[in-house]
Amino acid sequence: MLKDQARELHRLIPDTAYRTYSEYASAQGEDVVTKARGLTTDAILKEVLDSGLRGRGGAGFLTGVKWSGLSHHSCKKRFVVCNGAEGEPGTFKDRFLLRKNPYATLEGMLIAAHVLSADQLYIAMKGSFKKELSRVESAIEEMTSLGLFDQIKIKVIRGPEEYLFGEEKALLNVIEGAEPCPREAHYPPYEVGLFGNLVHPNPALVNNVETYARVSSIIRNGAKSFRTLGTEDTPGLLIFTVCGDVARPGVFEMEAGVTIKHLLNDIAGGAGAGRRLVAALSGVSSRVILAKDFDTTCEFGALKGIGSGLGSAGFIVFDDKTDMGRVTQAMARFLYVESCNQCTACKHGLRTASAGLDKMFSGSSSGARDLEQVLHGAKGAPQGNRCYLPIQGSRIIPSLIENFRTSFQKTKKDFLSTSPYQIPKIKDFDEEKHLFIYDEAQMVKRPDW
Ligand SMILES: Cc1cc2nc3c(=O)[nH]c(=O)nc-3n(C[C@H](O)[C@H](O)[C@H](O)COP(=O)(O)O)c2cc1C
Ligand code: SF4
Repeated sequence: MLKDQARELHRLIPDTAYRTYSEYASAQGEDVVTKARGLTTDAILKEVLDSGLRGRGGAGFLTGVKWSGLSHHSCKKRFVVCNGAEGEPGTFKDRFLLRKNPYATLEGMLIAAHVLSADQLYIAMKGSFKKELSRVESAIEEMTSLGLFDQIKIKVIRGPEEYLFGEEKALLNVIEGAEPCPREAHYPPYEVGLFGNLVHPNPALVNNVETYARVSSIIRNGAKSFRTLGTEDTPGLLIFTVCGDVARPGVFEMEAGVTIKHLLNDIAGGAGAGRRLVAALSGVSSRVILAKDFDTTCEFGALKGIGSGLGSAGFIVFDDKTDMGRVTQAMARFLYVESCNQCTACKHGLRTASAGLDKMFSGSSSGARDLEQVLHGAKGAPQGNRCYLPIQGSRIIPSLIENFRTSFQKTKKDFLSTSPYQIPKIKDFDEEKHLFIYDEAQMVKRPDW
């Protein structure tokens, strides 16, 4: 199959938002939920496995392997959960997708329900995602009136603002009415899911908004055509977010395997006049990507190969006027504030890192010793950790310090002359103006929420 044709078939984001399910369905040409219900579980699992689809929530876990494992779980009560918390700084892809096309995600969830014989579905978003909540609720109404949710209950969850809400074990806790704090590491959702216990664990399938939507197009159009797109390591299309110091920030659906350089320069407009791009961060989870590595392709393996990661395909871009020390301070503070303090080393280590950087930029640093403390705090944060957050801190903070040392070796006057960096926790996106709106409340959030 020609690539152009496959690209059209698997593209999730239309130029103009689908207004109704029938508009969406007629563009797709086939009712994929009815098609899936006519297929065996094994046939669907084979297609998802063959597609090589990797989860779009950040870790890139093979979706087919996750679904297969759950389908063989001895507990027959299973739940299907969609993670729409989208809290990663520099990422807006799930909300953009839900605004333009909420149907593919819901179809993917219904296909998962068929595979797992699940009759209870949850789609969890932040309560502040007003546009997406109303879009999803009206899509559910439409699809319900067509009988697609017969014998199936779906609940829309309005969750809290916290970053940890998106961590899958915390997400399940929120659905159960608790705080967004991750459960013990040895209770992954595919083992212990919702409203269960160790005798009746009720496992839950947790996938990202985009992951479910990709399954819908894979079952409709086949794994083979999906495989013609992207790379061996990361097949298919990705929805990229590019924000920061580029001329044309935005959300772009493209094949995996494009180079970072192409994405930042040709698609997102590159640096402003007279400026030069120096680095990018793929969210707050991985090591910084330096401009010398911008020839790297956007796929899970290649980015891991340079010591970083693809994450949720959101890139925060920095040009040569950005004070990378201030960026480091903002990243450390974000992770410290968002840590839930269930694991002492995590909160304590990140507090040490964040406080040390704050001290420098307030002009009261004693120099190199403070920087060593920052590194010590960040590197020591992951100990007995329930979740991945402190591992993120132990990667991103040292990588920024090691690569931008001179940003931390200033005179008191120079430290004081810099301005704080606002972390791009994205609140909204003006597509016409190519403008992201950041959440200012994050700057003043207390670490003891
Ligand atoms: C601190 C933290 C925050 C996360 N936030 C999100 C999020 O907002 N959305 C998301 O889909 N996954 C998030 N994840 C990843 C989820 O835990 C989980 O891996 C993902 O929902 C699995 O879906 P996938 O296999 O489709 O990628 C987060 C993980 C961590 C450690
Ligand atoms: S590792 Fe950190 S963020 Fe994760 S549960 Fe423990 S204290 Fe909370």
